[in-house]
Amino acid sequence: IGRSVYFYESVSSTQKIAKEYAMNGANHGTLIVADEQTEGRGRMVRKWHSPKGTGIWASFILRPDIQLQHAPQLTLLTAVAVVLAIKDVTNIIPEIKWPNDILINGRKVCGILTELQAEEDRIQSVIIGIGINVNQSTENFSDDIQMIATSLKIELEQTVNRTEIIQKLCYYLEQLLNLYISEGFPPIKRLWETYAISIGKQITARTLKGTFEGLALGINDEGVLLLKQANGEIIEILSADIEIK
Ligand code: BTN
Repeated sequence: IGRSVYFYESVSSTQKIAKEYAMNGANHGTLIVADEQTEGRGRMVRKWHSPKGTGIWASFILRPDIQLQHAPQLTLLTAVAVVLAIKDVTNIIPEIKWPNDILINGRKVCGILTELQAEEDRIQSVIIGIGINVNQSTENFSDDIQMIATSLKIELEQTVNRTEIIQKLCYYLEQLLNLYISEGFPPIKRLWETYAISIGKQITARTLKGTFEGLALGINDEGVLLLKQANGEIIEILSADIEIK
């Protein structure tokens, strides 16, 4: 992972560039990084604020030999890699909010966006976009996110080296992918659970199909969230924004 790295001063979105590289046959593990994104994208068609020189705006091209239905596992694997990278460099232990928000002291420091290109049920490539707020100060965040976002610099009260984080991220992604390929999802799931905060809590899940409330029981072997509703029914949540009560 990260043996081919393409660095850009400024791009629309590293996701978009990575997709173009993937279509042109870029290898597994290719990394696209930018110092600034002018049209950074988040989940659920939101924008991702990506100002120059402050964060890690990166997209990895992966070509895992797995079935389409297992793709969400890669997002959870990536979340663990981000946690371990941040932990190594800063000594802060972040928390994971299912499916893919990384929080410190309850505020979001990183988001992950996974996009797939598939033919029938074979994956051609997976583009994993990672946005980490590294050296922003509070006033760098727009008013609407100041209360919910944080950066490594805000938490650590000192500037953090972005290259070191990227190097650790590549290292842990490679280690975890090797573990995943040799032993499957269970060891990744166990690691993920170590850092997850939403499990065992009452949550509200806002999905494209509606809003559901209940107890987050955990994730299943596919990485899908199991939610026990008040009527006792257990439902599977594939993708949502969740709020912990
Ligand atoms: C989210 O939490 O909504 C996901 C945010 C993902 C942001 C990253 S930054 C690098 C890559 N390029 C993008 O346009 N988005 C992802």
